[in-house]
Amino acid sequence: MTQRTFSIIKPDATRRNLTGQINAVIEAAGLRIVAQRRILMTRAQAETFYGVHKERPFFGELVDTMTSAPVVVQVLEGENAVPRYREVMGATNPDNAAEGTIRKLFALNVGENSVHGSDSDENAALEIAQFFKAEDIVG
Ligand code: CMP
Repeated sequence: MTQRTFSIIKPDATRRNLTGQINAVIEAAGLRIVAQRRILMTRAQAETFYGVHKERPFFGELVDTMTSAPVVVQVLEGENAVPRYREVMGATNPDNAAEGTIRKLFALNVGENSVHGSDSDENAALEIAQFFKAEDIVG
């Protein structure tokens, strides 16, 4: 089933000029980038986006990290895009990420893990809507 998922190329990756290399892994995995924008996230945007983690001890650090440099927000489309992209990203902690995954290839540590991807269809829809208007997604 063709699905959409939401992706962020995080500050640690944009800072190291890895956007193109990460996009190449995404595309080689059969996912299509159907919307993409480079932005500097505001604290309000990051706090809303990661609201589910508000009570976690790393929340402040997470918001600081996500607003420290530009990010690239993306909509990816493909067969089972949500689980497929999670497979392509690898485990949240790069120490546990499988060979060939984006996080194994590029991530520095759990907080600077290069990419974010939605964990369910429902969250994908909410996350996409936070950053993109329907007419800006061209599949
Ligand atoms: P992401 O998929 O963007 O969703 C939440 C993020 O919180 C996660 O990736 C990590 O970058 C970050 N995160 C998760 N666990 C920790 C942790 N123990 N310390 C710091 N950051 C974390």
